[in-house]
Amino acid sequence: MGLQAKSNTPVNISERLLKRMDELKSRFPAGKHKSAILTILHEVQDENNDWLSVEAMDKVAEYLGIQPIEVYEVVSFYSMYNQKPVGKYVFEFCRTACCAIRGGEDLMDYTCKKLGVKEGEITADGMFQVKGVECLGACGYAPMLQLGDFYHENLTPEKMDALIEACRAGRVEKYCRL
Ligand code: FES
Repeated sequence: MGLQAKSNTPVNISERLLKRMDELKSRFPAGKHKSAILTILHEVQDENNDWLSVEAMDKVAEYLGIQPIEVYEVVSFYSMYNQKPVGKYVFEFCRTACCAIRGGEDLMDYTCKKLGVKEGEITADGMFQVKGVECLGACGYAPMLQLGDFYHENLTPEKMDALIEACRAGRVEKYCRL
């Protein structure tokens, strides 16, 4: 995926987040702070409506003392980082072999139809988005999806209905980080 253009999006780095970034960076010796990049990007993404603008990536590069391109190449490689605005609840369906055999693709189609979107689209109310991703390492619990930091496993259409309702009611937690 190519890099998005600059969007003049303000970057939110709260005091809490900055303290957390300092803590993550301190786990690595001087000269190796780049090793904290994955977790720091997750934290920055969480605090910026679940996506990373070019401005946010530049801030992370500046913070870690590395070149912006070093951040861009990480963000554009991993599907868990979003380079444009996303729905409030993003259902990331695994569509690799075990999940596909156990009905994952049908379930993703079911969810898209229920929400009235195609894969990648955001519902008109901004609440939901459906994405297909590669194996998430929970093959024994197929079919499954990731929502924020959590896995939802052994899914059925009934479980999807319940999950969507729980999201609408604000009863679904997305993050488990500090
Ligand atoms: Fe779906 Fe591995 S095949 S989690």
